Amino acid sequence: QELKLSLEQIEKGGYEHFMLKEIFEQPKSIHDTLRGRLLVDEGIIKMAGIWDNLERLTKAERIIIIACGTSWHAGLIGEYLIEEFARIPVEVEYASEFRYRNPIVTNKDVVIAISQSGETADTMAAIKLAKEKGAFVFGICNVVDSSISRFTDAGSYTHAGPEIGVASTKAFTSQLTILSLIALKLGKHNGNLSNVEFMRLITELDALPKKVEEVLSTTHDLVKEIAKDFVDAQNFLYLGRGYNFPAALEGALKLKEISYIHAEGYPAAEMKHGPIALIDENMPIVIIAPKQGHYDKVVSNVQEIKARKGKVIALVNKGDVQVANLADYVIEFPETSECFSPIIASVPLQLLAYYIAVKRGANVDQPRNLAKSVTVE
Ligand code: G6P
Repeated sequence: QELKLSLEQIEKGGYEHFMLKEIFEQPKSIHDTLRGRLLVDEGIIKMAGIWDNLERLTKAERIIIIACGTSWHAGLIGEYLIEEFARIPVEVEYASEFRYRNPIVTNKDVVIAISQSGETADTMAAIKLAKEKGAFVFGICNVVDSSISRFTDAGSYTHAGPEIGVASTKAFTSQLTILSLIALKLGKHNGNLSNVEFMRLITELDALPKKVEEVLSTTHDLVKEIAKDFVDAQNFLYLGRGYNFPAALEGALKLKEISYIHAEGYPAAEMKHGPIALIDENMPIVIIAPKQGHYDKVVSNVQEIKARKGKVIALVNKGDVQVANLADYVIEFPETSECFSPIIASVPLQLLAYYIAVKRGANVDQPRNLAKSVTVE
């Protein structure tokens, strides 16, 4: 027992929990996802799994992304990325729904299955079904040689390194990174993305590890302080638009998973169709509002929330004034293209969930009732 404990301490590398260690590993894990693939100087993205199946992928009539949990949130952002840059129609499905609803799948479809563990039973069953119907299945897994990575027709590993904390953090940002690479590569090859635009985007992508490092160092202490004020919260609302709508879902999931506070993610504009009824002085609302993501519309959402006395924690770009002036708490993050902003914005959201959970005395690495990999139905 003693030996096991000290081994675990060594593995945690000085951090109190694996989750915090993994949050802080993100500059490196994102870099590892990009390494050997993103060659900015040569102006190329090198990915064998994509290159070897380029015809099949760029000619897909439709891409269906299947996944569960956090990986499903990455899939939603993947939809926005692939549709924007490669202009291929994308649908995103929960693997557990897809496998039981007799979906229409043909041999002209490409299925992208996303799974950190590569062992999720529902995702595996959905892949089997898609294969039976003739689809080409491309896997995005973190665990090398996992069942899903072996069973798919082709794939790319995220290379985020082992993720021990049950709540997924670095695997998620690496999934977003690999989906960005795929979308840009497909867009470049099918002619939907100009060279200039491609170069601009890959340069942005290349800067992400540095920006994630910056957001960690500039927000860590602040978020820790903010967390103190929300230890007794009963509910939380997370809002975002565009690429940051799935980031809001993921932020809410992190909080639910480890702090056991009820949290809901919503597209900011849908607030008026329901959640606004819940807003009063006891409702904390996290709102992701980067400069490039329909900013003006988000400003009016914040005004509506403040008119109802909701407590606003705003994630804004550095130097923001409008939202910052309205919000009760302001967390600044470095600017990037809207499509990559979830990779940066997710980091302070992970820290917020982490510190609220820690202050509530919860077991963050092994939350109750949850498993790292769900190999049963
Ligand atoms: C479990 C884990 C989640 C994960 C989900 C999907 O619920 O607790 O963190 O997102 O499974 O797992 P996968 O390994 O397929 O990404």
